Amino acid sequence: MFRTHDCNSLRKSDIGGQVTLAGWVNVTRDHGGVIFIDLRDREGLTQVVFRPEENAELAREAHTLRSEDVIQVSGRVAARLPGTENPNLATGDVELIPSKLRILNRADTLPFPIDAEPQNEDLRMTHRYFDLRRPRLARNLRVRHRAAKATRDYLDSQGFVEVETPILSKSTPEGARDFLVPSRITPGKFYALPQAPQQYKQLLMVAGVEKYFQIAKCFRDEDMRADRQLEFTQIDIEASFVTPDDIFIVTEGMLAAIFKAALNIDVKTPFDRLTYRDAVNRFGSDKPDRRFGIELVDLGEIFRESSFKVFRSALDASGVVKAINAKGFAGITIGQADELTEIAKLHGAKGLAFIKIENGEWKSPIVKFFSEKEKTALQSKLNIEEGDCVFFGADKWQIACEVLGRLRVRIAEIQDLLGRARQRQSGSDPGAPEWDFLWVTDFPLFEWSPEENKWNAMHHPFTRPKAEDMPLFEAKKFPDVRAEAYDIVLNGVEIGGGSMRIHEPELQDKMFEALGISSEDRQSQFGHLLRALRLGAPPHGGIALGLDRLVMLICDEQSIRDVMAFPKNNRGLDLMSNSPAEVDPRQLRDLGIKLAKEKNL
Ligand code: AMO
Ligand code: AMP
Repeated sequence: MFRTHDCNSLRKSDIGGQVTLAGWVNVTRDHGGVIFIDLRDREGLTQVVFRPEENAELAREAHTLRSEDVIQVSGRVAARLPGTENPNLATGDVELIPSKLRILNRADTLPFPIDAEPQNEDLRMTHRYFDLRRPRLARNLRVRHRAAKATRDYLDSQGFVEVETPILSKSTPEGARDFLVPSRITPGKFYALPQAPQQYKQLLMVAGVEKYFQIAKCFRDEDMRADRQLEFTQIDIEASFVTPDDIFIVTEGMLAAIFKAALNIDVKTPFDRLTYRDAVNRFGSDKPDRRFGIELVDLGEIFRESSFKVFRSALDASGVVKAINAKGFAGITIGQADELTEIAKLHGAKGLAFIKIENGEWKSPIVKFFSEKEKTALQSKLNIEEGDCVFFGADKWQIACEVLGRLRVRIAEIQDLLGRARQRQSGSDPGAPEWDFLWVTDFPLFEWSPEENKWNAMHHPFTRPKAEDMPLFEAKKFPDVRAEAYDIVLNGVEIGGGSMRIHEPELQDKMFEALGISSEDRQSQFGHLLRALRLGAPPHGGIALGLDRLVMLICDEQSIRDVMAFPKNNRGLDLMSNSPAEVDPRQLRDLGIKLAKEKNL
């Protein structure tokens, strides 16, 4: 046997036994000729002690060991000397006194010390295989595995069948740019990598599968962020003869199973629901973080007749005046006010009015425009007290809500309302984190694209209008049509989204028409789907959850890169293997591809 135990298993009861361990040299210490080694494998650490008086030759050899060398040691389990036990280590009562040492492999100079958090992410990514040895990342990979396994087990128990769908496929419009793969056999033609298995899963419903799922790789050529990668994984689900409630119940059950398996936490179901309209009205976001307050309050009634031009003109133009009250934030610094104003402008506001309440006084250049009646109404509606700071948004509904929603989140960070910074500073136990699951429902079916000067599908073109809103759809009142679409939000992060689909070919055709897709394009891009819908397509719907994002939250990580084995960096590069890379000109010739000269690109 290569090893009799792993590095996390020896206890007092093993004392006196002969064992063999294998692993990496985590650290070595030389105490006056006695060599102490922490031997590490994926399970943990065991102390190995080479004493010259016991075996001089072995101690000499051990002296050459460096961090991350790979060794195998056999020997006797001994009690540690009284007073040298390590209560922080599972194996801290014992040590291994070796009689045999095999050096299996030496490690070169290390790219960075493994026990520190390297600041340079590029360095980590270049040596990712080494980075992944760090316990935090090793734990993340295992949590991810448990989450995926719980997903499969749970969905299997509910009768869902996992079906693989092609990677070399045809583009499904999910709103991002496609990755294209040239076809050698059919020169000049391209496959698209799937942005999601959306059309395939709908075709599987036409095929009578009824309950499908897949842990599916998806590819989207879009700008990367902390929670976005070019290549990511969805838990993709579709079912026939269902209502949104059926999808909610199975998703809630699945998430409960995942949290039980990954964190041993009992998630409370069913989750709360908010309509899109209410979510945006109250939190200024379609993915509200409800773990702190600072809700948006509508002030339209108060300022309808106001003499303050900024508010009055917003209302006269069918816009809104809304505000948030940040309790205890009257001490806002000039720097913070500037930052918040920048955020407001970035999201479309023309300015940011705010009032500080200090020493019983309302401090702001805009207060002089308010009547006593307006002030009294404002005070009671926003519960304004000493020490508060009130921020206003006067604009079109969408802009005012979005601006205040962004400010709300930033202010909560500045004020540390979730207490994360405080815990980090004091080193206190963060305690049980709060898990705020929320369904957001009734999204608009369309959103206007000013750049393209046309209506786009807010979710995707296969999403059905709500039955109540069909007359609005028929009347082409597109801004008012709601979709049978929903998102699942966790702690202010969108972890999934789905909808009931259009199963009637005529309605699907009308939807494509509303989206400005010509009838030729409809046939060339979606002919297969339209034909399939004509062959007895059952009513169906589903959802997809971002597995990476979900695991990121479960692992309390700030970036999805830390829960992926081999992610791309924020410029889309794989620094480890140097991809993307140039290819052999012969490969291009085979594909009938000629690169444009760089300056013409
Ligand atoms: P949607 O586009 O909302 O829906 O995607 C579903 C979920 O996938 C995750 N996600 C991502 N994760 C990491 N990196 C990305 N670039 C990325 N893009 C999306 C998010 C998101 O909520 N076919 C539909 C689902 C359906 O209608 O059933 C779809 O893909 O967590
Ligand atoms: P002005 O009349 O442009 O000087 O604006 C008066 C105050 O209202 C300033 O503090 C502006 O930053 C602020 N302000 C201007 N436009 C808006 C808006 N749309 N919403 C909220 N505050 C605004």
